[in-house]
Amino acid sequence: MENTDIDIQGTGLPALILPPPAKPGMALADVDTPALVLDLDIFERNLRTLQDWARRHDIALRPHAKAHKCPEVSLRQIALGARGVCVQKVSEALPFVAAGIADIHISNEVVGDAKLALLAQLARRARISVCVDNAANVAALSRAVAALDARVDVLVEIDVGQGRCGVASPTAALELARRVESLPGLRFAGIQAYHGSLQHRRGHAERAQACLESAARAQQCADVLHEHGYACPIITGGGTGSAEFDGPGDVYTELQAGSYAFMDGDYGANEWAGELKFGNSLFLFLLGTVMSVPTADRVVLDVGLKSTTVECGLPKVHERDNLLYVAANDEHGIVRVAAGTAAPVLGEKLRLVPSHVDPTFNLHSDLVAVRGGVVEGVWPIAARGLSR
Ligand SMILES: Cc1ncc(COP(=O)(O)O)c(C=O)c1O
Repeated sequence: MENTDIDIQGTGLPALILPPPAKPGMALADVDTPALVLDLDIFERNLRTLQDWARRHDIALRPHAKAHKCPEVSLRQIALGARGVCVQKVSEALPFVAAGIADIHISNEVVGDAKLALLAQLARRARISVCVDNAANVAALSRAVAALDARVDVLVEIDVGQGRCGVASPTAALELARRVESLPGLRFAGIQAYHGSLQHRRGHAERAQACLESAARAQQCADVLHEHGYACPIITGGGTGSAEFDGPGDVYTELQAGSYAFMDGDYGANEWAGELKFGNSLFLFLLGTVMSVPTADRVVLDVGLKSTTVECGLPKVHERDNLLYVAANDEHGIVRVAAGTAAPVLGEKLRLVPSHVDPTFNLHSDLVAVRGGVVEGVWPIAARGLSR
């Protein structure tokens, strides 16, 4: 919750405190908006589905917290058996360490003295691993970590087809592994082989094929490292869209899926034809209030760009076929009402399905956790905005 106590000196009035959007025991209909709301029954089922499946396939689960930035979510995943969490940014790790999470993988490169100093401090409080793809960065990481007498596990990131970070060849990975092992404070722990864009290949068969190809590249790299005496105890990667193929494939030792706990409009558009299916009916939604009813064919919601992102499409109004969210302004969402149908009334609350879960969470301070239409908890999205 935001720190918004306003004590205006000299007015003689008590300090003004912004009430939370919801309180335990409150009915969903009374939650203040815009609010990000989670139906706990389906959320918990999704957590169990992937954890049980990982156990059956003898692969560790390290769910990605970049999806939700909320330690309450990670603590529930770990209670079910997850090995730890992934974060994407070094600052993002802070609330998770503060929540007592002892094993955190930064699934990204960390560059710059200020960030490396922070990473070293984290490494004195929790087991931290981090990705590298550059020799100068490895040296800087070692200096920062050794200065605090800390230790970190280092994973060489390899590019398995996404064209983002990561070394391009097994030989380059081997060079970096050697460098890591030669420097104080660092231990070579394996490789990261994540391919983001294939997560959203729509067709099931097409996605399966793409996953096989990137896993083969990861295996090839691990084989070269092995031949030169570098075991890879960890081969980490995989997301919600690839988990069902990466898991049984005998290449990865660890899965990093994050969105599976919530799903969103974009993942809902994938074909889910295999054994692993997540609830993707509406259970993570944005609650908005109709704040203006200017014409018979248009109403305005209080959910705009500061409450939802649109890079994967506009949010959809749930179970109201006559209503179409057509434009997002900064604070307003314009909803068109089909001709001849009843418009929602002023003050009515509507549920929206967000199209992309990760950046949407980053716009909210609280996650309102609901069961059977009643608020059970209000969970701080504590890493919101922590993008350094
Ligand atoms: C490195 C890395 N691992 C795992 C994930 C998790 O993916 P998802 O939320 O699609 O499951 C992401 C997402 O972008 C990522 O960048």
